[in-house]
Amino acid sequence: MSEFLKVLNERTAAKHFDSATPISVQEIQELVSEACQAPSSFNIQHWRFIAVADERIRERLKDTTIAPNQERVANAPLIFLILGDLNAHKRLESILDDTVRVGLLAREVADMWSTIANGMYGCDPRLARDEAIRSGSLAATTLMFAAGNRGYVSCPIGFNPAQVMEILSVSDHCVPVMMLTVGRPAGRNNARRPRLPRPRGNRRGKVTDIMEIRKLNASGISAFQAFLDSPTGDTPLPYPEAILTDPTYSDSIEPAVNIEHRGFSNRLELA
Ligand SMILES: Cc1cc2nc3c(=O)[nH]c(=O)nc-3n(C[C@H](O)[C@H](O)[C@H](O)COP(=O)(O)O)c2cc1C
Repeated sequence: MSEFLKVLNERTAAKHFDSATPISVQEIQELVSEACQAPSSFNIQHWRFIAVADERIRERLKDTTIAPNQERVANAPLIFLILGDLNAHKRLESILDDTVRVGLLAREVADMWSTIANGMYGCDPRLARDEAIRSGSLAATTLMFAAGNRGYVSCPIGFNPAQVMEILSVSDHCVPVMMLTVGRPAGRNNARRPRLPRPRGNRRGKVTDIMEIRKLNASGISAFQAFLDSPTGDTPLPYPEAILTDPTYSDSIEPAVNIEHRGFSNRLELA
């Protein structure tokens, strides 16, 4: 199994942390740097991180959890709060300058992106918030796998955002996206919980429960060709009627992760 699949397979929502083994500041920084390799729209990198090792603050954060008795919050030696910065797009110009400097983007394209992004997010606070949450979530996910790669375990925790913002003095222009506990494992943590699709009796689950492949039907294909051929490009496309679920899945799809645990198998069966 590849190293990547090993880390992917071994990540679970950990309950037991070794509270006596702290994570060094250098390693915290390395983890954050690895989390920052996540993608984001226009490469805006909306994510911001607060790392809490202080036991008293961790104890207070325990009171903000949605589920009761989340001892893992106080026991983990480190809690990350991943935030999404609602104003992050305002710094896009300087981010793009770096991309231009290393030769990955032409100056004209960078200027165009900057104008588009500032227009999009400046005029639509809801979109700015959605993007900040998307980017923050991707950074949090990357952080969990980066932690797993270093032999740490982690757990995302549901929390009350207003309380967390108050305890950690988070600026108003940041939205709390994820709380993550991280540390060395102690005791036996849960094995991976089963994933969809659910097995049916003694049979495997069907991949069609969770995914579809869409394709154009015959009239959609000819309409699309007419659209491409039309000089003005204004031939209407017959969507959505022309988009179908493809009933002939490629049979080369193989699930990346097979979980066989306590008699439960969620290997996929192709439709
Ligand atoms: C947004 C979010 C909030 C979660 N909140 C909690 C929580 O408060 N307490 C907890 O023990 N696990 C929490 N989890 C972990 C999930 O319960 C866990 O990931 C899921 O049951 C699947 O288990 P696995 O990750 O071990 O495979 C949360 C996960 C997410 C993504």
